[in-house]
Amino acid sequence: MVSSKISAIDVQEVTKVYGTGSNSVKALDNANLTIYDNEFFTLLGPSGCGKTTLLRLIAGFEDITEGKINLFNEELISLPPNKRPVNTVFQQYALFPHLDVFENIAFGLRRLNKSNSFVQKRTKDVLELVQMQDFINRKPNQLSGGQQQRIALARALAPEPKVLLLDEPLSALDLKLRQAMRFELKNLQQETGITFVFVTHDQEEALTMSDRIAVINEGQIQQIGEPEVIYEKPRNQFVANFIGEANLLPGKCIRNGKDGLCKLKTGQEIKLDIPLIFKKDDELTIFIRPERVKFSKSKGNSLSKIQEFTYLGNAAHIQIVSNDHIINATLPIDKVKTFHKGDNIDIEFPKSFSQIINS
Ligand SMILES: Nc1ncnc2c1ncn2[C@@H]1O[C@H](COP(=O)(O)OP(=O)(O)OP(=O)(O)O)[C@@H](O)[C@H]1O
Ligand SMILES: [Mg+2]
Repeated sequence: MVSSKISAIDVQEVTKVYGTGSNSVKALDNANLTIYDNEFFTLLGPSGCGKTTLLRLIAGFEDITEGKINLFNEELISLPPNKRPVNTVFQQYALFPHLDVFENIAFGLRRLNKSNSFVQKRTKDVLELVQMQDFINRKPNQLSGGQQQRIALARALAPEPKVLLLDEPLSALDLKLRQAMRFELKNLQQETGITFVFVTHDQEEALTMSDRIAVINEGQIQQIGEPEVIYEKPRNQFVANFIGEANLLPGKCIRNGKDGLCKLKTGQEIKLDIPLIFKKDDELTIFIRPERVKFSKSKGNSLSKIQEFTYLGNAAHIQIVSNDHIINATLPIDKVKTFHKGDNIDIEFPKSFSQIINS
């Protein structure tokens, strides 16, 4: 949890353009973002959206084209690289292959002119933190991928940075190890109190680990919020689709006003909060998550039919066809035996989980 509201990183109207003229690429477009001290903050978005670029700008590895970045209220550009309270862990662990674990960690500390006794103690402390104290004399090629990544983490933590930037640090690991490392990383962040800026394109990773998430697409920040907010109240269709599965259903306003009424092209009528900019007969799109769709056995003339039924072990996924429109829904485990492919059903979209969504 965010225990304080001290600004660790302030990104103000930052644009980054690589190259010039017709070869130029706008990797970030007017990004605004505040990351608080002690926060586990995630940058989430598809490949090429600008996540690494933003991380590299925060680290000071790249020049900012427009705008500025403050670290703990000091402008980044005025801080010499060795005074920046930031360290980075990359996707590839980049350990020195010819040095053992101890020397890999000690290397950076010696460059900071730390005393021998400090280097000895600090190296042992960070190895304990990542539970690798028994591997101190191994060479990187004598370690598994997960163990190497822990050493890379220990190395980045050793100089006691106030901010740790992590660029897809788990992506080279297999699924089981990734899942285990999620908890370890989260615990490590909480134990050390260091601000983590974590980059991933994996939505599950983002939802399970983060205090807050920034969703980025094509260099533009789409939404910033806590995992529940991003998931339950996505600001636009990109966020809705990128995080989990979403039904986006076309409809028409049949009565405007706060507690308005929409008629979906699937056939259902739905009552929900309609922003005042929508007037009667306006076309709109309704968002609802599959697990929020309610359905029951049809009592009479049903518009909807289960067209696909996929058993998932802990639930079932069903595809409903309604007036030629497809609606995805999740069937909880205790109802899996009640419904079958081909059943006619009645569906309902609860007001509190349905919303009009921007394109
Ligand atoms: N040094 C560079 N010169 C020119 N273009 C670059 C450079 N680095 C990145 N880009 C471009 O900037 C955009 C953003 O790249 P970036 O590496 O920040 O994406 P990313 O979100 O980290 O993607 P991925 O998930 O694949 O790592 C891309 O279109 C990329 O091709
Ligand atoms: Mg990247």
